[in-house]
Amino acid sequence: MGKVFDVAIVGGGVIGSSIAYQLAKSGKKVVILEKSSLACQASSAAAGMLAAQAEIEQDGPFFQLALKSQSMFPLIASELLEYTGIDIEFVNKGMLKIAETEEMAAALKKQVAFQRSWDSSIQWLDSKELQHMESNLAPTIVGAMYLPNDGHVQPAKLSLAFAKAAAHFGAEIRENTEVVSFVYENGRIAGVKTSEEEIHCEQVVVASGAWAAKILRETGMDLTIYPVKGECFSVKPEKPLINTTIFSDKRCYFVPKRNGEVYIGATVVENTFENNVTAGGIATLIERAMKIVPQITNAKWERVWSGIRPQTGDGIPYIGEHPVWSGLFVAAGHFRNGILLSPLTGIVVAQLLNGSLQDNQFLTAFRLDRKREMVY
Ligand code: FAD
Ligand code: GLY
Repeated sequence: MGKVFDVAIVGGGVIGSSIAYQLAKSGKKVVILEKSSLACQASSAAAGMLAAQAEIEQDGPFFQLALKSQSMFPLIASELLEYTGIDIEFVNKGMLKIAETEEMAAALKKQVAFQRSWDSSIQWLDSKELQHMESNLAPTIVGAMYLPNDGHVQPAKLSLAFAKAAAHFGAEIRENTEVVSFVYENGRIAGVKTSEEEIHCEQVVVASGAWAAKILRETGMDLTIYPVKGECFSVKPEKPLINTTIFSDKRCYFVPKRNGEVYIGATVVENTFENNVTAGGIATLIERAMKIVPQITNAKWERVWSGIRPQTGDGIPYIGEHPVWSGLFVAAGHFRNGILLSPLTGIVVAQLLNGSLQDNQFLTAFRLDRKREMVY
């Protein structure tokens, strides 16, 4: 029999690592089991935007989760720096969600009205005001929703900092360790099986992103979690081209990082685990990007990369306990927003496991056996 832990976490991405941090901090003996290396998948491919208002356009538990999680970043950044020495490069210079046509402008103005009920600093900027703020934006851009309180982080650093902070509080991290099955005992989950050994524990959390559905199938749970590839590229202009994040739509955004790199993402390729960058994908992105910030053409090329987003049937994550096997929990399917949602997911899951979760809303909205037709 392997070593006994309180909790085994399957997956060392930003979600597994955030959960491990909160649990270890609360005194649990935790082990993170990662098939390959920490943050090797979506969590290092992300652009790192904390785009609650730009990406989620209607109210509900998912939006509220996103807003609350977004508000935690200043505190999380300083906590992680204190415990690990890692600076997650939290930048809080705002975001412009732009309209390229009058039709898009009309829709965005409605969004401004809706979003102002949460944050009165959000406003509509017309083309002239926009040029004043970001002179390298194409003059054809009609206007933008300005979100002064939006920010971004360096996603791989965030993910690694969560894991290192978990280790600071005693968590064990095992890389190159694939979980292949579970240990069942008296109607509950009593551990996991890797190809090498059985690891016994009180509770298991499956946080393996786009790969979560596969391992859960043997438990009788058929969750709709599927892969959606995203490809990105970055440039490093000699002088900064933009100051704020520029978000055109879900297939084209610009994130100016602290090191001078501008991340430009991202394609949306459904149902593939093939994590490769294609010439066609990058060509489409460049074409879109040049229409929005034409000066991109002259910027020094930096790199390309891709990652696999974990999407769900109804677009919101699964966070909850298995309806049949007690002791087995899932936190997966954070799709386009796992970086943004990671601080609060860690806290909610730790409370769920500790039996101290007060807010029933989370249990209901994100539960594993929710009806798929529900819209959030
Ligand atoms: P992952 O990071 O994929 O981690 C899962 C881990 O589980 C992996 O390391 C994997 O190796 C491991 N694993 C799998 N199976 C097993 C097993 N059987 N045993 C052990 N380990 C296993 N989100 C934002 O909030 N803002 C953004 O700007 C943003 N931009 C994005 C841009 C792109 C191009 C992409 C691809 C994603 C973006 N996202 C963004 C989404 C975000 O990256 C994901 O939602 C988040 O990283 C998911 O984290 P995770 O820990 O669930 O999954
Ligand atoms: N949230 C940005 C992306 O998933 O591409």
